[in-house]
Amino acid sequence: MFQGRSLLKEIDFTQAELAYLIDFAIHLKALKNQHIPHQYLSGKNIALLFEKTSTRTRAAFTVAANDLGAHPEFLGPKDAQFGKKESTSDTAKVLGAMFDGIQFRGFKQTDVEILAAESGVPVWNGLTDTWHPTQMLADFMTIKEIFSDYTGKNLVYIGDGRNNMANSLLVTSAILGVNITIIAPDDLQPATDIQAIAASKAVESGSHITITADTAAANGADIIYTDVWVSMGEEDQYDERIEKLMPYQVNAALFVQANNPNCIFMHCLPAFHDLETTTMQAIHAKSGLTELEVTDEIFKAPYSVVFQEAENRLHAIKAVMAATLGHLFIPKV
Ligand code: CP
Ligand code: NVA
Repeated sequence: MFQGRSLLKEIDFTQAELAYLIDFAIHLKALKNQHIPHQYLSGKNIALLFEKTSTRTRAAFTVAANDLGAHPEFLGPKDAQFGKKESTSDTAKVLGAMFDGIQFRGFKQTDVEILAAESGVPVWNGLTDTWHPTQMLADFMTIKEIFSDYTGKNLVYIGDGRNNMANSLLVTSAILGVNITIIAPDDLQPATDIQAIAASKAVESGSHITITADTAAANGADIIYTDVWVSMGEEDQYDERIEKLMPYQVNAALFVQANNPNCIFMHCLPAFHDLETTTMQAIHAKSGLTELEVTDEIFKAPYSVVFQEAENRLHAIKAVMAATLGHLFIPKV
């Protein structure tokens, strides 16, 4: 049922299919931890086409490909002709003729759609301006590991409500039957078309959706989730976003507001929680701030699961690649 398919956005897959991929990822994590080989992609070649930078996604695709017996080839923004000297369509045809699968991380969602339509091989979206689907599989896998199930949990996402992470969390929660609250200033709330997709999925799953500017809506959260206030490609917007989003910082007061001793903290990473990056040092020089979307205290708290979440990117990406490109054998999980 997965053979030959691409993962371009979450709504390409049903609730049952996403649930299967999450369970398959948990299964593959157990195999890896027990040192049991799982080379379902032996002899395959995987192109990793990156227009934007990455640590987790690149590392996860590379290690996942190696663990599955495939060869990954990194084509970064400085070494490929893509975008500058060669069209998406021509790139798709060339890579599709040589590789068995393509990961794409970049700006436009239409680019990943063209790659899938014209390459003839499975294409996996490693993040665009609009969606971040492989992150979703890792995130709901993490929630399932911690709470045994994600159905009916209350996920509160706070911060920039118009970016790829907000879009993906809203729609994936709606598909999976997770209650989702987006807390963001009025002009940074999800676009109406994204809200409409989520609303229609929520009717099927029973998920409750709340979109508000009021931080009091964090009450009852099982998961508090945030992301950077300035996404890749928006770097000229720091001043404006900091001013707008400081009331939406994840800090101790927000956890008091959540009023749930079992509430966990999640973040897709990278995160601005200390002065150990040059970007944060430059912001500090201008504003005196030492942390942005999450305080260092919460980031390092025992209920912060950000590194478990990051590790799960590997297992989730492995599940997607094995299911869509594996030899005609899908293990029962
Ligand atoms: N979360 C995530 O996608 O991280 P990278 O940008 O490092 O890949
Ligand atoms: N919203 C962030 C996510 C990074 C994983 C960005 O697009 O930069």
